[in-house]
Amino acid sequence: MSLPPPSLVTAATPTELPIRQIPGSYGFPLLGPISDRLDYFWFQKPESFFRKRVEKYKSTVFRTNVPPSFPFFVNVNPNVIAVLDVKSFSHLFDMDLVDKKDVLVGDFVPSVAFTGNMRVGVYQDTTEPQHSKVKNYIMDILKRSSGIWVSELESNLDTLWDNIEASLSKSSSVSYLFPLQQFLFTFLCKVLAGADPARDPKIAESGYSMLNSWLALQLLPTVSVGILQPLEEIFLHSFAYPFFLVGGNYNNLYNFIKQQGKDTINRGAIGFGLTEEEAIHNLLFVLGFNSYGGFSIFLPSLIDAIASNSALQEKLKKEAREKGGSTLTFDSVKEMDLIQSVVYETLRMNPPVPLQYGRARKDFRLSSHDSVFHVKKGELLCGFQKLVMRDSVIFDEPDRFKPDRFTQEKGAQLLNYLYWSNGPQTGSPSVSNKQCAGKDVVTLTAALIVAYLFRRYDSIQGDGSSITALQKTK
Ligand code: HEM
Repeated sequence: MSLPPPSLVTAATPTELPIRQIPGSYGFPLLGPISDRLDYFWFQKPESFFRKRVEKYKSTVFRTNVPPSFPFFVNVNPNVIAVLDVKSFSHLFDMDLVDKKDVLVGDFVPSVAFTGNMRVGVYQDTTEPQHSKVKNYIMDILKRSSGIWVSELESNLDTLWDNIEASLSKSSSVSYLFPLQQFLFTFLCKVLAGADPARDPKIAESGYSMLNSWLALQLLPTVSVGILQPLEEIFLHSFAYPFFLVGGNYNNLYNFIKQQGKDTINRGAIGFGLTEEEAIHNLLFVLGFNSYGGFSIFLPSLIDAIASNSALQEKLKKEAREKGGSTLTFDSVKEMDLIQSVVYETLRMNPPVPLQYGRARKDFRLSSHDSVFHVKKGELLCGFQKLVMRDSVIFDEPDRFKPDRFTQEKGAQLLNYLYWSNGPQTGSPSVSNKQCAGKDVVTLTAALIVAYLFRRYDSIQGDGSSITALQKTK
């Protein structure tokens, strides 16, 4: 199969393709949105919600409603244009075409009370001056922390896996989700904020669960949590929960960062023109929402992909031990092609942030692989990555986990179409786009974790939530 050149996929240039009216409808007021919401959360679930409509309309671009909606989300407009193939989705990266203001989780915006009564940078469009200040600040934090990143990662991984081993000696199966979150919290506070949770016993013990409740309250109206229906629809998806329920937790985290992360906060003021408040709330958001939230979803799916596949483990073990020298570094994992490919393939199969949105800045023509559509200024595009990353025009056997998919020359080309970071894996996050600032550090950190595991263990058994056996390196 020959791949279309990336320019064809990323540019919205007029093509020879037939012009088609966008299929689908929003239905009757109230009834359309509520019926789509029930399909989305209850009768179909997100993946088949989008898949069924692709089949129905014979199009990867169509109109639909996405939650939240009715009855108490009166100011939220659920109408979107779904973009579900690589080519139509890539319009979301073109900042001339889409506005990213306040669309992080769709038309619904959690109360700014969750972020210190201010709109943090992740919600800002590239045209807003504050976006550049915050993004530069975060990219500077990442640059400055690169000297301690790998050593902190390794020492915190030591603690995590020592604990899992100790629990496993007393039980045949160990749930690792909370230990993993505790590890992520400590590691990320140290590398991103320069703040050591050990200095504050309350934060050391329950900082991660404070983040969990803060995240949950912001995201509940938009995610499926799998409790008994219709209870989930009635209690979790019908109204937004107020900030005061987690206000105490957030203030504890705020005070911890303010006291223990002084150098990082001062840098925001001196180097980037942010007030102390802006620096703390933005740092806390990137640490808690983007980094902690993203890794908490991504790492279990990575462990799941590996811990159930012993043939793959043999190959990973060989590579982790034969390549990269005796000490792990960012550069040494770059020599480990298979490990990197497994990381990319996991991100393709299970993109941790599945939905991305962008509002049309102007009328424009949007292309899918087979048609061109007219989009009107102000309409909201909604991409569901789980389907986009299974686009059969781009990916062979798209529904199969192929560990070596991203190796060699063809694999390197495919990185042009790996979109988990809200941009191609070959792209560069900058102030003029909305690509994840952590794009490289996320994949390198995940590769380092895999390499670490296969230097420490001969084999690992388990799944996306528990470990059932660990064979230490002989
Ligand atoms: C597995 C972990 C992560 C995932 C899955 C992830 C994913 C994403 C995605 C999808 C976006 C775009 C959201 C949108 O606008 O639609 C984003 C934005 C962003 N991410 Fe990440 N991210 C992760 C980790 C990180 C880390 C470690 C950092 C930095 C320390 C970071 C910093 C940011 C920032 C600052 C933005 C906003 C970019 C902008 O406003 O231009 N992320 N991330």
